[in-house]
Amino acid sequence: MKPGAVRIYVLVEDHARKRGFLGQHGFSALVEVGTGRDVLRVLVDTGQDGSVVLSNASRLGLDLSKVDAIFITHGHYDHMGGLLEVLEHIGREGVLVVAHPDAFIPKFAYRNGKLISGSPRKLTPTDLEERGAIVVLSRRPVRLADNVMTTGEVRRRTDFEHVEGFLKLGSDGLEEDLLLDDQALAIDTPKGLVVITGCAHSGVVNTVFHARELMSRDEVYAVVGGFHLEGASQERITKTVEELARMGPEHMYACHCTGPRAFCAFLRAFGERARWPGSGDIIELA
Ligand SMILES: [Fe+2]
Ligand SMILES: [Fe+2]
Repeated sequence: MKPGAVRIYVLVEDHARKRGFLGQHGFSALVEVGTGRDVLRVLVDTGQDGSVVLSNASRLGLDLSKVDAIFITHGHYDHMGGLLEVLEHIGREGVLVVAHPDAFIPKFAYRNGKLISGSPRKLTPTDLEERGAIVVLSRRPVRLADNVMTTGEVRRRTDFEHVEGFLKLGSDGLEEDLLLDDQALAIDTPKGLVVITGCAHSGVVNTVFHARELMSRDEVYAVVGGFHLEGASQERITKTVEELARMGPEHMYACHCTGPRAFCAFLRAFGERARWPGSGDIIELA
């Protein structure tokens, strides 16, 4: 792979249109990056459980035992739920697992007036270490290669991207969860930044601003992932699309929790540059 080239295999997405692939509400993608000397392989998120991510990876002929790192964008069940099974499948020592410490705090939400869990079933960093992982819990960015970094906690600067409706277990019971564990993967390529989000709970505009600052690079080449705009107000969708259009990415691969209303707005603004990838799709960039 050329230095700075990026290939993204979509392993879990809410839908699948390619024959033999499975859809599941959630996100997972294997990201390959040419680093100059080598290829860095990062598994971003793992879907709800091992079944879909492993089935789709095997259908693509991918050998997940070759991943250098697993990066968890945040602690929701549809992103971290498959982690144990993936580690068991890999079955070797020394796989790096990078996450924010808050990803392991039990999370909840009210849906139709009922309190439901938003976390995978009982998962601790020790469970991961027992399966051979080297667990790096960091609120700060983690450098995975010269041109690849996790964003760490995303600074929230826009006035229209609020985190609402999430709860976590605090010292005095349930408290509001601002999802500080939410982060993205930032890759510097010759054509500009590639930013890969899980749900972008911090706001996709905040996330891209943050990645630009972190990587000291203004050009944005592609934004890929879930943008959590499913239940967003029309005002938030409009402002999000306007801000992203101003940053001028060549490609918008919006999926998972982006929601159809927001995707239609992206289509109007970006035309053919906006796409909704599904399980089994391969995205070649730069
Ligand atoms: Fe999600
Ligand atoms: Fe989420």
